[in-house]
Amino acid sequence: MPILVTGGAGFIGTHTCIELLNSNYDIIVLDNFLNSDPESLNRVKEITGKDFKVYDIDLLEKEKVEKVFNENAIEAVIHFAGLKAVGESVEKPLYYYHNNITGTLMLSEVMEKYNVHHLVFSSSATVYGVPEEVPISENFPLSATNPYGRTKLMIEEILRDLYVSNKNWSIASLRYFNPIGAHESGRIGEDPKGIPNNLMPYITQVATGKLKELNVFGDDYPTSDGTGVRDYIHVVDLAKGHIKALEKIVSTNGVEAYNLGTGKGYSVLEIVDAFEKASGKKIPYKIAPRRSGDIAECYANPSKAEKELGWKAEKGIDEMCRDSWKWQSENPDGYRVKGSALS
Ligand code: WQD
Repeated sequence: MPILVTGGAGFIGTHTCIELLNSNYDIIVLDNFLNSDPESLNRVKEITGKDFKVYDIDLLEKEKVEKVFNENAIEAVIHFAGLKAVGESVEKPLYYYHNNITGTLMLSEVMEKYNVHHLVFSSSATVYGVPEEVPISENFPLSATNPYGRTKLMIEEILRDLYVSNKNWSIASLRYFNPIGAHESGRIGEDPKGIPNNLMPYITQVATGKLKELNVFGDDYPTSDGTGVRDYIHVVDLAKGHIKALEKIVSTNGVEAYNLGTGKGYSVLEIVDAFEKASGKKIPYKIAPRRSGDIAECYANPSKAEKELGWKAEKGIDEMCRDSWKWQSENPDGYRVKGSALS
């Protein structure tokens, strides 16, 4: 029975589709292609040699979502679909609440109607707000500092209420730290629209010459070198964590949250150094003022996922940088291949 992957054309979605297909799952992808390109799914088919159905649907089109469940005996859902730009969420909170929360409510209502109660939800370490200490464990206090983070927090609470109302549900909320890297083929990767908000795609665009230099947002944080520390995790390790979570939820009932991080933090300047070594490219940078909303340090205690899912990140920072560079250097304009459509 197939696994429905909402937002399957996105950065983490495509990498998870590859791991699902390589693990002999049948998949169905639902995506509205607002922040993704059909070409990414052509590449998933190319890499795996496998075909799968794709529905160009927005989760807010509830009758179309119902049609997907009507036409396919779905076993479980991995739910990536959602808006994820922190800055944009501050400017357009209603857009974010409606899209992320109403979209998830509609998906959950259709799942309930079709007796599909296995759900892996794409959450985020942003639900920890400003952590009191690091490393961060799942039982730490939860708070969000922006509408995007609040949508993730609220959806986790909604899913907990769902399980309390009907014990048939089996849900895993996966709290991602900072996903970077790309599939070893260099054929899929992170492809943000416009100027990247996140560190690694900004660095790779400096490396290709598309951007002039990196702005390092603050060097006066209480960290080893004053720059922000984050838990960068290879997107392939992250994708594999979804397979382990899927295996867990189809064999048990309940609702649990898991940190998907490496447990190791790197500063901005350490990432710049690692990228220069991995790519052979010099990354010019200047120190800029702190970015509002940023925190000094954030990295995971990943032991709960290791113990309960049998999952642990394996790839190191050099491989993350090398794979990020391979993707970007071979696809300087991302997926924007002239005239590409879903094949
Ligand atoms: C990492 C570090 C910046 C860009 C965000 C979201 C989070 C999740 C992952 C969705 C920080 C510094 C960055 C730049 C810089 N997204 N930086 N110059 O902010 O940890 O997390 O993406 O789930 O919800 O908040 O990631 O890559 O933006 O920043 O100095 O041009 O790099 O200050 O220390 P962040 P990031």
